[in-house]
Amino acid sequence: MEAGRRSGRPVSADAGRDPSRRESFSGLLFASLVGRGLWFFFSVLPTSPHAELKLPDGQVFVLPVVVGTEQEQAVDVRALRDQTGFITYDDGYANTGSCSSSITFIDGEKGILRHRGYRIEDLAAESIFLETAFLIIYGELPDPRELSKFRARVSSSASVHEGMRVFFEGFPDSSHPMAILSAMLNSLGCYFPEMSSHKEQLDQDHFDWAAALLISKVRTLAAMSYRTKRGLPFVYPRWDLRYAANFLHMMFSEPYRDYNPKPEVIDALDLILMLHADHEQNCSTSTVRMVASSGANLFASVSAGVSALWGPLHGGANAAVIEMLEDIEASGDDGDKAIEAAKKGERRLMGFGHRVYKNYDPRARILGEAAKRVLTSMGIQDPLLQIAQQLEQAALTDDYFISRKLYPNVDFYSGIILRAVGIPVDMFPVMFAIGRMPGWIANWREVASNPKMKIHRPRQVYNGAVERDYLALEQRSA
Ligand code: CMC
Repeated sequence: MEAGRRSGRPVSADAGRDPSRRESFSGLLFASLVGRGLWFFFSVLPTSPHAELKLPDGQVFVLPVVVGTEQEQAVDVRALRDQTGFITYDDGYANTGSCSSSITFIDGEKGILRHRGYRIEDLAAESIFLETAFLIIYGELPDPRELSKFRARVSSSASVHEGMRVFFEGFPDSSHPMAILSAMLNSLGCYFPEMSSHKEQLDQDHFDWAAALLISKVRTLAAMSYRTKRGLPFVYPRWDLRYAANFLHMMFSEPYRDYNPKPEVIDALDLILMLHADHEQNCSTSTVRMVASSGANLFASVSAGVSALWGPLHGGANAAVIEMLEDIEASGDDGDKAIEAAKKGERRLMGFGHRVYKNYDPRARILGEAAKRVLTSMGIQDPLLQIAQQLEQAALTDDYFISRKLYPNVDFYSGIILRAVGIPVDMFPVMFAIGRMPGWIANWREVASNPKMKIHRPRQVYNGAVERDYLALEQRSA
């Protein structure tokens, strides 16, 4: 892979308008409204867009506006605290751009998702997971030579060091596979010290191999965690199988019998992985960037990403969808009661709503169709799918959901497909982690290769006790 290809499109979010070049600009413009003569000063300023912030003491602070390549606009507050003492308060970061990135673009209002400029609908129709992973990591679709080199690297990295088998033996049967996966990904770095050295240049020099082996081994470790829990022998990867097929082989083949899934099943799994490959600054990806900003290596950073993904509001949602559908079915409900309970605030409809998509989730639309195809080809009449479809229809026509812009998200359908494929529910977030690996890797690289990167260190608004004197133990009442 040539360096030129790896550097990606020349279109960083701030291409040609590096926000850091504006620090002196905003600093110059900290002015008082009282000095009317300053309007002359403002008038000779560059015509670049800017915002004005009127502070409680009447002073006006002028802030540059950063415009992305898709014309999204952000007020650059980086000089705010230094020059005014104020910070911004944005609990949950819903209004905060934590970085500029050239990997993924989302327009949540319009239901748009693009990786490196390519529409998710086109990638879903034309591409495969490994090719999209390459695109996300390196910025361009691979040419045939690049793709076969990347594939060869991924295939030849599929096995894990035999020493790691011992780790698996130590986990109790009750272990959640996400706990195992997170621990194993961090441990993996120990076997590749040259890739996890915490020496910036060395880690960067080995990046291509580290990226390919993480994409490959996360799948092996995931299958091993599944088989450990069930007391089954590990199945070694095969050189001749495609990415998703190799995963299914390591999950479901036995030493005495090969598992031969239908092509539709392999394709559906590949599609699920691809649709999860990156999703901008979600909780786990932001976590990876946060960890990377301290200079931590790729293995440590993606291991933290797995932990962040585990939560039910993020990667755990696809499992929660199935549990919810099973609940509804077991209670004899057809979905109506669940909807009423959600409207009363008694429960959430898992798989509905998204922090960013406020129109529809384009991945859900693609997977909704795929779910129907897979179930038909496998001849499965899943009552849960019927309940899911009823929920979807009811929610799409109900004012509670319409007014709050709550639409089915990607997890709503991925859970149904994974269930049909035979993936157990506790492995659902693991599947999400396998799919999200390219996005984590690409985001790690953006941070690690940025010479201007600062350690991520947000501020807070403190609302605890004010200063007080220490009380000796005998002076404290029970
Ligand atoms: N069911 C019922 N009501 C909901 C739901 C839901 N799934 N989601 C949000 N609401 C209501 C919520 O009660 C609130 O109502 P009100 O205004 O009356 O108080 C309103 O909608 C806004 O909710 P919010 O919590 O402020 O919205 P958010 O943007 O912070 O949360 C979310 C986004 C995804 C965490 C949330 O919609 C949710 O919990 N969904 C279910 C879990 C889920 O499916 N998560 C997967 C997300 S997609 C995977 C990924 O990309 O990570």
